[in-house]
Amino acid sequence: MRRKLVAGNWKMNGRRATNIGLVQAVSDAARELEGVDVWLAPPAVYLLQVAELMQGGGLGLVAQNAAREQDGAFTGEISAEMLADAGCRAVLVGHSERRSLYGETDAAVAEKFARIQAAGLVPVLCVGEALAEREAEQTVAVVLRQLGVVIDACGIDALERAVVAYEPVWAIGTGRTASPGQAQEVHAVLRAEVARYSGAVAAGLRILYGGSVKAANAAALFAEADIDGALVGGASLSADEFVAIARAASSAR
Ligand code: PGA
Repeated sequence: MRRKLVAGNWKMNGRRATNIGLVQAVSDAARELEGVDVWLAPPAVYLLQVAELMQGGGLGLVAQNAAREQDGAFTGEISAEMLADAGCRAVLVGHSERRSLYGETDAAVAEKFARIQAAGLVPVLCVGEALAEREAEQTVAVVLRQLGVVIDACGIDALERAVVAYEPVWAIGTGRTASPGQAQEVHAVLRAEVARYSGAVAAGLRILYGGSVKAANAAALFAEADIDGALVGGASLSADEFVAIARAASSAR
């Protein structure tokens, strides 16, 4: 049985003063929850602060991005090795905002994925289609291409130490969630694709849903067979909302 996972992606939000209350509230609540991993992805500048606030709480620290390169002359970049050194457990890679706003290609995503694993961290590979692609019935083709480049570059066994997040771009930050049925359909396609290579890897792979997840829709999503948790953006900035989502994952076991 796959253990549920709820990860909060703060994106470019947070301040030292307000991070304290948010992390403490999530940490206190998560301690009481069984059957769910709770991870937080603050901006890089706050990773060390959040690592310290998390101490002993059992939360997982996640970075939102890592460099494509190793340490060296890459001004402004942060390597996966540095993120490991800062106490991270995982790194988001291929988030649609990175792909669309910062021009990250499939090839860059695959390279970052490999770097993250080489540093001993868990990549959280984000895939998802834009609205026009869904309307053109390209959803399956898009997500299988995004997954396929990573499998081709890193091999199927790499997915044993990874998490996948299905995030339809039209549902991110829009308040428009995919219905549980729509999400499940794509999750099942992703798992079946992995199963073509390895049934064992497919059975163990956690596939999160992301895109306007909130307390009100989380339980219905988590009731689906192939939805193993959520990558939560906006709602992760409210301790009450985020904790309610983690609680829904805990009772969905
Ligand atoms: P959202 O973002 O929950 O605000 O839609 C999800 C994400 O981008 O990870």
